[in-house]
Amino acid sequence: MIRSLFATGGFKTPSLADAYDRAAATWHATISKFGFVEAYEDLLALAGRRLPAGNRHDLAVLDAGSGTAAFSLAFGRQFKSRRFDLLDVSPEMLQEGAQILAAEGFASRLLCCDIRSLAEAPKRYDVILSAHLIEHIDDIDAALSAFRSALRPGGTLVLVVSKPHWCTTLVRMRWGHRAYRPADMQAHLRANGFEAIETYSFPAGPPRRLSAGYITQTQS
Ligand SMILES: C[S@@+](CC[C@H](N)C(=O)[O-])C[C@H]1O[C@@H](n2cnc3c(N)ncnc32)[C@H](O)[C@@H]1O
Repeated sequence: MIRSLFATGGFKTPSLADAYDRAAATWHATISKFGFVEAYEDLLALAGRRLPAGNRHDLAVLDAGSGTAAFSLAFGRQFKSRRFDLLDVSPEMLQEGAQILAAEGFASRLLCCDIRSLAEAPKRYDVILSAHLIEHIDDIDAALSAFRSALRPGGTLVLVVSKPHWCTTLVRMRWGHRAYRPADMQAHLRANGFEAIETYSFPAGPPRRLSAGYITQTQS
């Protein structure tokens, strides 16, 4: 069952949620075909050294703008985490994501709400994963500040964000999202209290052309 854990705070974006609802049934197959699941696995391999040592089964992990949970799936395969909080405005994406995770033995709690309501969340996540969400948010600093609020001190944020490229321009015609140059993303992250920012260039395929990865942390 989908729970609306946090207040939505009037930030609902129904038309975008509807569009993603309609895309949900084929989303995972599409992004797998374009190499995004492997790309997320490569990025997370690099992020591993930022995670607490020892048993990682019980880390509190949030996948923000989870879609069908590809980022969580990559994380679970790599670090054997058992459960994930999936947050998205699209109920259909959340349902698909829960099924995809369950098929590999991972549990999930579904939070159907806008990312900005995380600003009201307690600082409790060890890790926040977020792929291709931030580009949909009008105020990127509000979203990054919400991430910081939801992370415990020393918590890790792993982001994947669209970057300027002619391929991004084509995809944007469908989804209307923004793109950020890595230098600008780093500045936004610093301005919102993140430190030790590492930028990752995907080596191949559509992820190389469309996206950049970022691994960063809040102050301990
Ligand atoms: C481009 S998809 C990425 C999905 C997934 N992270 C992936 O990499 O496959 C963006 C997702 O963000 C969700 N989303 C867009 N705006 C949102 C918001 N304000 N709050 C929460 N989720 C949002 C959409 O419903 C969609 O599932």
